[in-house]
Amino acid sequence: MYYQSEDNSFRLYHGDSMQVLRQLQQQVDVIFADPPYFLSGGGKKIQGRSMVSVNKGDWDKLRSIGEIDEFNRQWIDACKPLLKDNGTIWACGTFHNIYSVEKCLKETGFQIINIITWHKSDPTPTWGDLHFNFSSEFIIWARKNQRSKHFFNYDLVKELNGGVLMPDVWKLPTVGMWEKTCGKHPTQKPLRLLYRIVMASTRVGETLLDPFAGSCTTGIAANLLGRKFIGIDQSEEFLQLGIRRKHEIENPLRSIEMQKKIAENPDEVTVMINHARPKTKAKMIETGICYLRAGDTKGSLCVTPGFERLEYVLLHTNGEDCRLFRLKQKGCFQIWSKETLEQHGFTPSHATYYIVLKFDNKALPQIKIPNNLKTRSNTFVAKVRPLSDFLDFSQY
Ligand SMILES: C[S@@+](CC[C@H](N)C(=O)[O-])C[C@H]1O[C@@H](n2cnc3c(N)ncnc32)[C@H](O)[C@@H]1O
Repeated sequence: MYYQSEDNSFRLYHGDSMQVLRQLQQQVDVIFADPPYFLSGGGKKIQGRSMVSVNKGDWDKLRSIGEIDEFNRQWIDACKPLLKDNGTIWACGTFHNIYSVEKCLKETGFQIINIITWHKSDPTPTWGDLHFNFSSEFIIWARKNQRSKHFFNYDLVKELNGGVLMPDVWKLPTVGMWEKTCGKHPTQKPLRLLYRIVMASTRVGETLLDPFAGSCTTGIAANLLGRKFIGIDQSEEFLQLGIRRKHEIENPLRSIEMQKKIAENPDEVTVMINHARPKTKAKMIETGICYLRAGDTKGSLCVTPGFERLEYVLLHTNGEDCRLFRLKQKGCFQIWSKETLEQHGFTPSHATYYIVLKFDNKALPQIKIPNNLKTRSNTFVAKVRPLSDFLDFSQY
């Protein structure tokens, strides 16, 4: 073993995966593999104002179809015995390798569950005027065999998508600078992508194996979500980067910051936070109507970005008795006068106009309460936060 964290939740092996995998004894719950795509053939992309090579390293150099098939067959064969019977495997690629990976998975007896399309919301412009800009990658999700009863965190995945089952196209940005504070890997995956994969397919305490760990994004997402990680890479330089990233999240403040960044997905469903006195809150729940002042002290209306993705409302009284409700219509609000609210049985006091949100009055059962709700927020400023701030991942 090359490295083991004190709590044993993060273990690394250095070497060629084909050999290391055959020496491992422990079976794992999920395998995430981001193998070489074999696309380093001298192509160009635009970075800033200059043209740069897309070459990633010797390990990613172009190979013949036969060699790519052979490589994929070997690592998939070596992985299979290490996966528990009800376990699943995720494997990434682009058109350069993904058809080979899919073929080898099927030939090894795996059953495809989904093929996720990662639609990059901020793709790097590709050089050339003979093709569309490359802006997607594919991630195959497969179970060990036809009889496997694999785990899918259905309730959580649905909740993260505003109560509707999440589609297999995920619009997420590429890796951000905030994920590269410990150094760079040429093909680092974004934490937001791995976070979703780990949440969707594993339970707290389970173990993930990554045979092409690189900078250990899988391990970082796994540990942030209370899962264990085993990673293999042939490059010591990349493993060292992974260790620095692991040390980074051992600092609780940094770990919280990181989780906040992950939650700041520009496409994520948002929640309107609303403080209300107990009596008003009870009336709101009874009627399915939530309101807040439409304007600050000078009378202007302040609607913050994220409102268009608003799908929930969180009612609380000074941080206590928090309840989370789904809106009847996404991103939609009405402006009511004080008189209209009074006709609905409310006693609003300060303003002439109010923002009104209508919600389904059945509260979501499992939520976590962030501490900073405890300071009483001004009701005239719309406070919008990502939904994942309030979902208790350990409960799903
Ligand atoms: C696509 S990158 C993985 C990046 C990783 N997902 C991340 O977020 O940093 C593939 C990695 O596989 C490693 N690799 C390639 N061939 C290997 C082999 N035969 N055995 C072990 N590692 C290998 C490379 O060093 C590289 O870090």
